[in-house]
Amino acid sequence: MSQSSSLHVAIVMDGNGRWAGRRGLPRVAGHRAGAEAVRRTVEAAPDSRVTALTLYAFSADNWKRPPGEVAALMRLFARYLRTETPRLAAHGVRLELIGRRDRLPLPLVAAIDAAERATARGARLHLRLAVDYSSRWAIAAGVILPDVDLLIRTGGEQRLSDFLLWECAYAELYFTPTMWPDFGAAQLAAAVAEFRARERRFGGLPEVAAG
Ligand code: IPE
Ligand code: IPE
Ligand code: MG
Repeated sequence: MSQSSSLHVAIVMDGNGRWAGRRGLPRVAGHRAGAEAVRRTVEAAPDSRVTALTLYAFSADNWKRPPGEVAALMRLFARYLRTETPRLAAHGVRLELIGRRDRLPLPLVAAIDAAERATARGARLHLRLAVDYSSRWAIAAGVILPDVDLLIRTGGEQRLSDFLLWECAYAELYFTPTMWPDFGAAQLAAAVAEFRARERRFGGLPEVAAG
């Protein structure tokens, strides 16, 4: 099963604030470094034969954070979309935002619309960015994505934090202490390698026993 041609990887990108704190930097510096890690990881995904990548960027519960941090994140998302869209389009990446849009700043909504239009024909990698996302909300709204094959969480925590609860029914879980700004091609390749070494059974028997 793990060698099938489609591979949907989902990542809870956690640890930006701690990464910054350890360096004596403000939390927003960690988020800026996190955006670089997104660039590296997206670029590396096709080399690991990842066909769909869903990244948790901002949860519906993250509105509880200080207004200054929230505003900085919203500006960072809009800037990422504006600067990356041409590259994404050129590399065959189709970008889609998942989550609520009605609570986002209008300039961000405009950047989302433009990025989605410009990358709509991408067929190499389906990149979904989860912003103002809540899995419970998505399930209640009937918005369900393809099953996740591999769920990665950085930053050391071992929980889902309301991300893709339905879609992770049979996902392989991979937790790493690496803080998100330190993530990149090598860390993605290591996670995918471990995924490919695992045996998925989906409630059946190991292949050898099933005959
Ligand atoms: C993940 O990093 C980014 C967002 C949730 C927006 P955090 O900001 O949660 O970083 P830590 O967990 O405080 O280190
Ligand atoms: C989960 O990280 C949300 C994102 C990475 C966007 P949090 O840092 O918000 O999660 P908790 O609070 O540790 O569960
Ligand atoms: Mg966190």
